Amino acid sequence: MSNQKASFLVVANRLPVDSVTDADGNRHWRRSPGGLVTALHPVLQAEKGTWVGWAGNAGPAPEAFDLEGVRLHPVSISQAEVQRYYEGFSNASLWPLYHDAVETRTFRRSWWAAYEEVNQRFATIAAEEAAQNAVVWVQDYQLQLVPAMLRQMRPDLRIGFFLHIPFPPVELFMQMPQRVQILKGLLGADLVGFQRPFAAQNFLRLTKHLLGLQPRGHYVAVDDDLADERLVRAESFPISIDTATNESIAAEPEVIKRAEEIRNELGDPRTIILGVDRLDYTKGIELRLKAFRELLEDGELSVPDTVMVQVATPSRERVEHYMKLRNKVELEVGRINGDFGQVGGPAVHYLHQSYDRRELTALYRAADIMAVTPMRDGMNLVAKEYVSSRLDNTGALLLSEFAGAAGELHQAYQVNPHDMAALKQGFLEAMHASDTDKIKRMRAMRRHVRKHDVQRWARRFLSALGVPEQQALSRQCLGQRAEGTFTTVNEPT
Ligand code: ADP
Ligand code: F6P
Repeated sequence: MSNQKASFLVVANRLPVDSVTDADGNRHWRRSPGGLVTALHPVLQAEKGTWVGWAGNAGPAPEAFDLEGVRLHPVSISQAEVQRYYEGFSNASLWPLYHDAVETRTFRRSWWAAYEEVNQRFATIAAEEAAQNAVVWVQDYQLQLVPAMLRQMRPDLRIGFFLHIPFPPVELFMQMPQRVQILKGLLGADLVGFQRPFAAQNFLRLTKHLLGLQPRGHYVAVDDDLADERLVRAESFPISIDTATNESIAAEPEVIKRAEEIRNELGDPRTIILGVDRLDYTKGIELRLKAFRELLEDGELSVPDTVMVQVATPSRERVEHYMKLRNKVELEVGRINGDFGQVGGPAVHYLHQSYDRRELTALYRAADIMAVTPMRDGMNLVAKEYVSSRLDNTGALLLSEFAGAAGELHQAYQVNPHDMAALKQGFLEAMHASDTDKIKRMRAMRRHVRKHDVQRWARRFLSALGVPEQQALSRQCLGQRAEGTFTTVNEPT
C-alpha cells in the first residue's frame, strides 16, 4: 500500500465499497455501484486519490487499503457514535429539518457533541492524508463541520463541499441550536455546492442574517483569521447519473428479457405503476399509496388491469421515524391488497429489498408509469435512472415538484404530492396521455439526462473550485490516459 500523500481527496460519510464474502468464505471489498463513485473514480485514479469514509460497521476501522487504484481510508465510528452522530444528529436532527421538517426533528446535546467529534476525526484524517495544496471534496450533511476544521489545520488546501440534500429556508434553519457552528463549518470551504439555486440562495441569505456578512451574487467574503479576506462561492450543481452505463445496461438482451418476464409475472396488466425509494418518510410513499387506493375506490383504476410495484429499500432501520414509517406503509399495503387484491394477484407488490442494478433496470423497463412523488428530495436519482432506461422513449414519469429533479425534468407529469386531488389527477393524466405526448416528453427528458450526466456534474463542480482535474476526468471518461498535474480550465455551464 502506498504511503504517498494524495493530491485529491473525497471525504464522505460512507466509503464507496461493500464488504462481500466469496464462495470460499473469504471476505473482500468490492466497489459499490452508484453515480458519485463512478464519476469520481477516474479522478481519484488519475490523481492517486484517497477516499476517506466510514465502512458502515460500528467499532474499530480496518487499515487503509488500495482498491482499483484508489486509496480507501476507513474512519472508525463507535457504537455510541453511530447512535448519536449518524442515527441521532445526522438522521434525526438534520435530515428532517433539511427536508422541510416533514417529520419532527429532535435536538439532543449529546448528539451534537458526537457530531462534532466525528467531524473532527474525518477532518484530521483528511489533513494527514492530503499533499501540499491538495484538493479536498467533502460530501453531504453528515460532515458540515469538516470544511472549517480542515481549513484550520491545513490552510493550504482547496476545499469544496457538496450538499446532496436540500438546504432549508432561513426560518427553518434558524431552529437549529447549533446554526452558527454549522454555517461557519460550511464557510470553511472555497466552494459550497447545492442541488438547486434556491438552496444556494438560502445559504447566502443566512450568512447575512446570522453572521452579518454581505453576500454578493454567488460569493460571500469571510474573514477567518487565516486570510485577510477569503471568498466563498455558493452555487447549484444538480447531480446526475452515469447515463451511458445506465443506457447500456438497459440495452442488454438479458435485461430486456427480464423486463418481459416481470410483466408476465405480474399477470400482464395493462398498466404497471412503479415506485422505487429508500423507505424514508421524505419519499411520499404513504401519500402515493393513498392516492392509488382512492383511485381504486373511485373506480378510476381496477385490478388486475393496473398494478403497483413498490420497492422500498431498507434504510436507517433503528431510527424511530423509519420504524414507524415501515409499519404505516406495510399496514396500508395490506389494507389495499385486502380490499382490492385477488388470489395470486395483489394490487400492490411490495418489496422491502435491495436489488442489483440489472434487476432494477429491468423493473424500470417494465414500468409504464414511474411514480416519484417525494414530499421533499435533494435530487432523486431514481427519476433520472427511469428516464435513461426508456430507450424507446415510452413510459411516463410522474414527478413531485418537490424533488430536485423537477428543476430539470420539466416534461415530466409534475404534481404537488401534498395535494391529494392533484396527485390522483397526475396519475390519471400520465395514464391516459396519448403515446405521442408521452414519447415527446420522454425524448426531451432523455436528451437532458444524456447531456447532463454525473461526469458533467463532477467536471462543473471541480472547474468552479478552480481545479482542472476535469481534464483528467474527461480524458479518463473518453478512455484516454490522464496525465500531469492540475491546470485550470473553465467549462461553460
Ligand atoms: P436517496 O439518495 O435519497 O436514496 P436517490 O433516488 O437519489 O435517493 O438515489 C437512490 C439510489 O439508490 C439510486 O441510484 C437507486 O437506483 C438506488 N436504489 C434504490 N432502491 C434500491 C434497491 N432496492 N436496490 C438497489 N438500489 C436501489
Ligand atoms: O441522499 C442522501 C444520502 O445520504 C445518500 O448520499 C445516501 O446514498 C442515502 O442518503 C442513504 O443514506 P445512508 O448512508 O444513511 O444509508
